[in-house]
Amino acid sequence: MSLPSALLPSTEPLRVGLIGFGCVGQGLYNLLERLPAPGFTVARIAVRNPQKARSLPPERFEFRADALIEDDSLDLLVEVIDDPVEAFRFVGLALRRGRRVVTANKAMVARHLPALLRQQADYGGTLLYEAAVCGSIPIIRTLDTYFATEPLTAVSGIFNGSSNYVLTQMRARGTAYAEALAEAQARGFAETDPTLDMAAFDPRAKAVILAAHAFGLIPNPADVLALGIESIAPIDLKQAALAGHKIKIVARLLTLPDGGISVLVAPQRVAPDSPLFAVEDEFNAVLVEGTFAGPHALRGRGAGSFPTASAVLADLNALRAGFRYAYAKLDPHQALATDLALEVVVRSYARQRPPTVEFLGEPYAEIVEGYRFQTGYVAYTTLHRLCDDLRADGVFVVGTGAIQLLPDDETDPQLSGARAAVRFQ
Ligand SMILES: NC(=O)c1ccc[n+]([C@@H]2O[C@H](COP(=O)([O-])OP(=O)(O)OC[C@H]3O[C@@H](n4cnc5c(N)ncnc54)[C@H](OP(=O)(O)O)[C@@H]3O)[C@@H](O)[C@H]2O)c1
Repeated sequence: MSLPSALLPSTEPLRVGLIGFGCVGQGLYNLLERLPAPGFTVARIAVRNPQKARSLPPERFEFRADALIEDDSLDLLVEVIDDPVEAFRFVGLALRRGRRVVTANKAMVARHLPALLRQQADYGGTLLYEAAVCGSIPIIRTLDTYFATEPLTAVSGIFNGSSNYVLTQMRARGTAYAEALAEAQARGFAETDPTLDMAAFDPRAKAVILAAHAFGLIPNPADVLALGIESIAPIDLKQAALAGHKIKIVARLLTLPDGGISVLVAPQRVAPDSPLFAVEDEFNAVLVEGTFAGPHALRGRGAGSFPTASAVLADLNALRAGFRYAYAKLDPHQALATDLALEVVVRSYARQRPPTVEFLGEPYAEIVEGYRFQTGYVAYTTLHRLCDDLRADGVFVVGTGAIQLLPDDETDPQLSGARAAVRFQ
């Protein structure tokens, strides 16, 4: 039986210009080498440092990425450098030339998504970035195409592999924070600047990108609450374990009853019945709740050379097929909803003054092994305002998972009224 030629794999490999040959770039190169018929060939490679020892002959490398962007004999460009400022310059230059580009840089996409959309609309280029969110988990295209018209109620999950690795090692092996972080870096899970992972800026960027595809909201990353684990101590894991809970950094995108969309990233105590409980080490997971489709869970490697390169390859294939994101839900007038309160446990040193966190109502307070634990509701905007100060003072904040809407009258300290009755878990 003969198949229509459109269904047969193309024999002509597309020429790829690769900008960046680190963990991801090298992973893509090696992955293409191992496939019998990858459909792509890395024709030119640009890197930054002429002194660095490489795994390929020196003549394979050049040091001016702009030359690749200007080379029209290259069919596709892959930008996988570790510098979001230069990445935006490269990708912008390429899109203004109408080129087809793949990036893995979540910080750059989250910060500049409106500009990147305008450049694609004005010049006809295409940008795909599946590898920017949760490594090998195919979540962006799932939200953008499969759930394009499904009203979603929530998207949540573990979006950062290196902090999840650190938390797993600390809890399961009793490894010290600094040692677990060094291991995550040595294994290629951590960003070049580990603050991005540990202060939760990296999962916040990913949450911002998913908000665009899941809910049509493009928040400014700086406006989104991000609490990290830099101040975590063994006592925090021990207290969570008393109730059988683990601590994970959980990103949450929620539809509120009034239609508003809220986005936040914070350490959270996770119970054994949560699909996130068993997600360990560098693994990531995304939970999607659809009004009609119901609950879904995707789990996979959120970082690392081959898993991330595999997502880049998926985008190259999508570009070959003429795919573009639809952004079907995009609403430029939608604003980030912040009229929420989170139930949190604020842990400080008992010998220090209690941190100046304005709880809504009297917090439940206890002293354990020289540490003060205060549990109660705190407004989203308060946590957002205080997060840098709390981190600087070594105070650790972990959510219980419970969220309430603030009452219409925000002066009501007891969260009374109809809006306060709504509870998310
Ligand atoms: N690693 C992961 O697991 C992972 C997962 C998902 C997404 N990402 C994203 O993927 C991107 C790359 O990460 P990575 O881990 O592969 O970084 P990396 O290992 O630090 O490698 C960065 C590469 O970029 C090159 N580079 C930097 N500035 C450049 C410039 N101006 N012109 C040309 N080349 C330049 C570096 O050149 P030299 O070799 O000369 O130093 C290096 O080859 C980042 O945006 C990251 O957030 C990474």
